[in-house]
Amino acid sequence: MSAGGEKPKTFRQETKPPDPKARKRLGILLSGRGSNFLAIAESIRAGRLEGVEIAVVISNVAEAAGLAKARELGLPHQVFVSKGRKRQEHDAEMIACLRAHGVNLVCLAGYMRMLSAEFVAAFHNRILNIHPSLLPAFPGLEAQEMAFNYGVKVAGCTVHFVDEDLDHGAIVVQRAIPVLESDDEHSLAGRILAEEHMAYTEAIARVASGEYEIRGRRFVKRNL
Ligand code: GRF
Repeated sequence: MSAGGEKPKTFRQETKPPDPKARKRLGILLSGRGSNFLAIAESIRAGRLEGVEIAVVISNVAEAAGLAKARELGLPHQVFVSKGRKRQEHDAEMIACLRAHGVNLVCLAGYMRMLSAEFVAAFHNRILNIHPSLLPAFPGLEAQEMAFNYGVKVAGCTVHFVDEDLDHGAIVVQRAIPVLESDDEHSLAGRILAEEHMAYTEAIARVASGEYEIRGRRFVKRNL
């Protein structure tokens, strides 16, 4: 309580929860080829993601093809080389950059490094990741090859919120495809990638609508 019965002069704006319907300013994190990033950029250009813009593209690898694409597209971009850096220090630089660009939704698009707990907390329930399997099956690296060698008959991809565990948070979108007799691990990975490009746009659109809530692990439409 403040003295004299006055209303406490707290910094209300800082404590207000983020407006779920606010325009989405994406921060894309990538490490490599960047085809998911390009699919998102193309969806925005084509008008499939209203109220969404790419605020900044960050790579932890200087030579990443996705970074070169961001440069070509004239999008704000930044490199924070992570090799040899302490995770927390590296992530702190990325957090500062994302905040400076007004990012309110982080999209991991082939970002090949675990995030620190501090990063996950800084963007709580505002980080999406795409994974090339139907989670919780085959988390981690080489998911498509693992699924193929396991002999699954249905494969696919998952877009999920990021929590502190690997490939683990609440699922926003999954897309499934049959594994064909004619498939090998490469053709399967290629067909999964085509689904990924659609799944990420679908997931961002759902999150950008603001019409959702996360109940336990479940991403559900609000007021259902
Ligand atoms: C994709 O398969 C994605 O699911 C995984 O990493 C790969 C990135 O590919 N997380 P790209 O860089 O988006 O082309």
